[in-house]
Amino acid sequence: MKQIQMTKNPPFSLISTKKIIQMSDVWTSYDSKNFALEGINLSIDRGTNYSIVGQSGSGKSTLLKLMNSMMIPSKGIIKIDYITPNMNDKKFKKMMHTIGYIPQNLGLIKNTTILENVLIGSLPRLNKIQSLLKKFPEHEIKEAKRIIQLVGLMGKEYRKIYMLSGGEKRRVAIARALMQKPTILLADEIVSELDHVTAREIMDLIVDAQKRMNLTAIMVHHDMQLALEYANRVAVIKEGRKILEIGVEGDNIVDFQTGDMTTEEIMEMYSDDTKK
Ligand SMILES: Nc1ncnc2c1ncn2[C@@H]1O[C@H](COP(=O)(O)OP(=O)(O)O)[C@@H](O)[C@H]1O
Ligand SMILES: [Mg+2]
Repeated sequence: MKQIQMTKNPPFSLISTKKIIQMSDVWTSYDSKNFALEGINLSIDRGTNYSIVGQSGSGKSTLLKLMNSMMIPSKGIIKIDYITPNMNDKKFKKMMHTIGYIPQNLGLIKNTTILENVLIGSLPRLNKIQSLLKKFPEHEIKEAKRIIQLVGLMGKEYRKIYMLSGGEKRRVAIARALMQKPTILLADEIVSELDHVTAREIMDLIVDAQKRMNLTAIMVHHDMQLALEYANRVAVIKEGRKILEIGVEGDNIVDFQTGDMTTEEIMEMYSDDTKK
C-alpha cells in the first residue's frame, strides 16, 4: 500500500483551507443607534453555493456588504479566507480584488458596450496609467471576449447595455465579476426580477462558472424554493438575526443551526418570512 508522506510544515500553497468566510457574533449598525445585524454566526465552506433568504429589510444586503468589506462590524469577528478585512492590510487589499460583487442594481454603465463593462473587472490588474486611461492590454481584451462567450453573449460584445434584456444584463454583470478571476462571488438578488425560466438559466450559468473556477457563490434570494434548489446551505435572516441555516438532504430539509426543526416547521416558517 502506498504510504502518504506527512511533512511537518507543508508549504502554504499545499494547504487547502476549507472555510472561506467565518463570522462570529457579528453586530453592525448604520446609525450607531439601531443594529442592522445582531449576533450573526456563520461559516461558509470553500466552493459551495450559500444562499441568504429573508424579508425585505431583514439585513441580507448588509450581510453581503460585510463580506465585501464595504461595511465593518461594530462588534464581532469576520474572517475572509482567514484574513480580517482591513484596508490598511496589503494582503487583504490584494484578496479583496478577487471578491466579485454584483449589487442589486447590477452597477453596469448603461451607455457603454458589453465589452467595456466586462473589462472593468480587469482594472485591479492594470498599472496606474493603464487604469487611469482605461487602456486595456490586448490579452485582457482577449480574456474579456472569452468570458463574454462563456456567459452566452458571443457576437454581442459591442452592444450597449441599454439595448439588453434583463437576463442579458445579468450575464454581463456575471462576466464582469468573472473577469476579476474571483474566489468569491457575491450576488444580491440577481434573479429576483426575472421570470422562472430566465432565473434558472442565470443560476445554471453561475453553477457552471463555480465548477470551472472553484468559486464560492454567496447569493441573496427572494425565492426560498429557488435557493433550496441551488444552494448547499440557506441562511434565513429575520430582523437582523440568522434564525435558521438549512439544506436539503435526500427528501428532507435539514436545519443545521439548531437541528431540532422538522421539514414542515421549516416550510411553515419560510412562508412566514418570504411570502408575507
Ligand atoms: N444606507 C443605510 N442607512 C441606514 N440604514 C440602512 C441603510 N441600508 C440599510 N439600512 C437598514 O438596515 C436594515 C437592513 O437593510 P438591508 O440589509 O438593506 O435589508 P435587505 O437587503 O434584507 O432588504 C434595514 O432596517 C434598513 O432600513
Ligand atoms: Mg437588499
